[in-house]
Amino acid sequence: MFAAQEELKARFMDEPIGVFDSGVGGLTVLDAIQKALPNESIVYLGDTARVPYGNRTPETIVRYALECAQVLVERGVKAIVIACNTASAHALDVLQCELNIPVFGVIDPVSREAARTTRNGAIGLIGTRATVSSGAYARALHAIDPEIVVSAKACPLFVNLAEEAWADHEVTYEVALEYLAYFKTVSQTPDTLILGCTHYPILKRAIRRALDTLGLEMTLCDCADATAQVLHDELAQRGLLSLRKTPGETHYFVTDAPAPFAAVGASFMSQAPKDVQHIDFV
Ligand code: DGL
Repeated sequence: MFAAQEELKARFMDEPIGVFDSGVGGLTVLDAIQKALPNESIVYLGDTARVPYGNRTPETIVRYALECAQVLVERGVKAIVIACNTASAHALDVLQCELNIPVFGVIDPVSREAARTTRNGAIGLIGTRATVSSGAYARALHAIDPEIVVSAKACPLFVNLAEEAWADHEVTYEVALEYLAYFKTVSQTPDTLILGCTHYPILKRAIRRALDTLGLEMTLCDCADATAQVLHDELAQRGLLSLRKTPGETHYFVTDAPAPFAAVGASFMSQAPKDVQHIDFV
């Protein structure tokens, strides 16, 4: 009996981790998870047919997140990472209530990192419209330290530029200049900037260049490493880390054309996405 239970648990521990985003942005988080947890198998879903999520209503975002989670649950995942700030802001609670597996968001991990990083107590946030207007970051940061001054700017065009992998394009730099100039107008200039959308690290070079031009000295914090670390620690604590001694496999699914997704992933990931498959929600 005991041996059978152990075997069952071991089988569950070796089930994959599910990761989803509206598109390629979650690959920035996936890349960090693959490095932090190399023996875990992963199922990644990019809802590329419906990207961007960031301009949708909260109701639509919750519905999309539930549909993505359902696809992953059907593939037998043992835990889910919402590798999307927009869906984390609006749907983390719902998914945690609805599903009987652990569900992780990206907002708390990077908020803790940003709160540790800031020296002047002022933190900037850039994200989608839906993330900024949700107030989720201000809540997370103020739960850590109510004195933190948060200034936030929605940068909706960045998602499409990232989906095109235009990291080094002049247009991206110009757009970044336009958006980031906002932080010159706020009463307390932040010394730390949260990239509060998982697509934005793909554009890091343009963002850094624009900050330099604007004379803004800010440390950039993104969700990837902080989320991977939380995932590792939580799975370890719950006894859910894989017992496998060999590298895990990642399976990729998208709801639109696989080729552009694979090409963007290959442009920045340590392991280029292979065998990306198209699926439809039914
Ligand atoms: N990458 C997502 C995020 O972190 C979603 C961007 C979008 O689809 O608008 O918010």
